[in-house]
Amino acid sequence: MAMLDSSATRLAPPPDVKRGPPDPKTGYRPFELGQFRFSRDEYFALVSWPTPRGRLEHRLSADAFLRALMRDVAWNFFYGLVNFDPVFGSRNLYGRVELFAGRYLPAYRDAGLSYVEEFDATEAMATCKAILRDWCSAGFDPFASPEETGNAWAGPKQGDNLAAIERNRVATQRMPGLPGDSPLRDALPINRAFADVPQDDPVIEPEPGFEGALHAFNLFKYLSRSDVTWNPSVTSVCRDSLFCPTTEEYILPIIHGNDRVEWFVQLTDEIEWEVADKETGAPRALVLMKAGDVAAMPADIRHQGFSTRRSMLLVWENARRDLPRLYESGQLPAYPVEF
Ligand SMILES: [Fe+2]
Repeated sequence: MAMLDSSATRLAPPPDVKRGPPDPKTGYRPFELGQFRFSRDEYFALVSWPTPRGRLEHRLSADAFLRALMRDVAWNFFYGLVNFDPVFGSRNLYGRVELFAGRYLPAYRDAGLSYVEEFDATEAMATCKAILRDWCSAGFDPFASPEETGNAWAGPKQGDNLAAIERNRVATQRMPGLPGDSPLRDALPINRAFADVPQDDPVIEPEPGFEGALHAFNLFKYLSRSDVTWNPSVTSVCRDSLFCPTTEEYILPIIHGNDRVEWFVQLTDEIEWEVADKETGAPRALVLMKAGDVAAMPADIRHQGFSTRRSMLLVWENARRDLPRLYESGQLPAYPVEF
């Protein structure tokens, strides 16, 4: 037998992913992870879980589910909670991960209808990737803005889009463009919304002996060539301080529940944030951020952003490993500044 090429090997679903045969009508496969079951039809993703009164089934629009699942996969479950919607999502335990249904929705939780199951993160990730591979038809890019990907998510299965869903969050070691680090994006086209962004590069003149240590690049040029939305990629690293700039258009496909304080710097245009209590979803604030605005999003909230025109946002994360414990135990206040 001929050797598989490396990309085919990478894309082959691991044998321990529990999946059923393709539905004869729609072509989509059902999947299981622990007690959770996942299926999709022409329009909807269906998630079900056990309750004392039998299995409960929850429906999400398939495109919304796939956009959210794409972020969860590309971000490796991210920080804290990734709520696909008010009912279903994941909680990162860093090495392990919880999937939950109704846990952060008081009506479900109080009625005893919520469910949480903990998994090895690698095992859960294999199933998430297999669902993405099977449920994304050709032409649908769950990372793109709606205008750039169309409605190829609807209807029966037609081909796939493996290249789009294999994109990962950029994981820079120090700064893009340094030798051996993540690349700059000069080869990608400028997005239609950023045609007016200057494309000049800074001049770097290090003293002899400091080549490879002194570095700079045009961040606006870099972001103007981003081909994905709502994907805060690590773009500079100084110990635990991570700058994660991103371009945003339409709706953040998840409702993010923070497990640490998160700083936002609005670089261009506008984003409106709906901010709610992390545990209950009760509304707490509406924040309109205009270019130049800075906000510290507290550690005890969930939030979702809305951006009519593609905008640039700098997300500043603190990657210290003990932060979730310090916030959960109350040793740190949920906000960074006492006024
Ligand atoms: Fe967040």
